[in-house]
Amino acid sequence: MANPSILILPGDGIGPEVMAEVKKIIDWFGAKRGLAFDVSEDLVGGAAYDKYGTPLHDDTMAKAQAVDAVLLGAVGGPKYDKLDFSVKPERGLLRLRKEMDLFSNLRPAQCFDALADFSSLKTDVVAGLDIMIVRELTSGVYFGEPRGIFTEGNERVGINTQRYTESEVARVARSAFELARRRSNKVCSMEKANVMESGILWREVVQKVRDEEYPDVELSHMYADAGAMQLVRWPKQFDVIVTDNLFGDLLSDCAAMLTGSLGMLPSASLGAPMANGRPKALYEPVHGSAPDIAGQGKANPIACILSFAMALRYSFDQGAEADRLEKAVEQVLADGLRTADLMGPEGGKPISTSEMGDAVVAALTKSL
Ligand code: IPM
Ligand code: MG
Repeated sequence: MANPSILILPGDGIGPEVMAEVKKIIDWFGAKRGLAFDVSEDLVGGAAYDKYGTPLHDDTMAKAQAVDAVLLGAVGGPKYDKLDFSVKPERGLLRLRKEMDLFSNLRPAQCFDALADFSSLKTDVVAGLDIMIVRELTSGVYFGEPRGIFTEGNERVGINTQRYTESEVARVARSAFELARRRSNKVCSMEKANVMESGILWREVVQKVRDEEYPDVELSHMYADAGAMQLVRWPKQFDVIVTDNLFGDLLSDCAAMLTGSLGMLPSASLGAPMANGRPKALYEPVHGSAPDIAGQGKANPIACILSFAMALRYSFDQGAEADRLEKAVEQVLADGLRTADLMGPEGGKPISTSEMGDAVVAALTKSL
């Protein structure tokens, strides 16, 4: 049987640096655990624009459709701020999500014990935190029509449209309920049904899917603004949160900081099963391209490494190996190793991006 295939798209800013560490991890699993992957690499975002004049070449799109999993670093940077909207780096990522139909974006916010003191919230509020945000990723205001900047009378008007069909809501709700069954069986759905019709529909559909197909799962509803407040007040009240594309974007950055640093949060974007039974899948850290620290060896590769752990779990059926990788990260943090983003006020010497990758590889080897 052919090896499972992975397409690596490092992208821009710190993307290539953090991805270089993930490659070490992939090599380790090939050499030590007999998990060989066929790895190919290509450009996305500003890097693709610089070479092809487009943030995602059609050939790259075709490759992404053909592989078992895509690993993406980050896209964007100030160099591309002035580009026409249609060729901005972010469009490359959004095209991948849309054309691969990756409707369910899993963003787990887990607080490692070693970092509980480091969060901007009180230790007891975040210690042991383990929640999962399920963000709808292919619809809503990110993609709704009409959109654009138009002229009305003597002024311009910017328009985006929040739009959800029943089936779009139902399928992401199902993926949240399925996940909840493997966790604490509890889902909180967030929208703004108090001001948006799309929110009213969202709430109705999520409730209906629950009543008809998942009566065993506990479901609550919250307005997204209140949800944001509860997320920082007492995040441990949540298990799985399901929400739309835009609210999920905001709430997941917020949840990331509960864990100590945006540099810690991985994500999996999953679509429908392919012919081989594996879901269409793209894995990426939640952090962006961080142009201010790019190229300096300061970036934290853990979010990207943990994204590969999610690939092991959700694409390659290697839950035990995913656990092994997550434990290795936990061990490195427990040993006190920190990239710059994880340095507390007490100071200390931060290790570099590649030293962090090496430390995780060493911890993996120790786990054998
Ligand atoms: C994210 C990012 C993206 C988004 C950007 C880079 C297009 O913020 O994945 O959270 O807005 O979805
Ligand atoms: Mg975001």
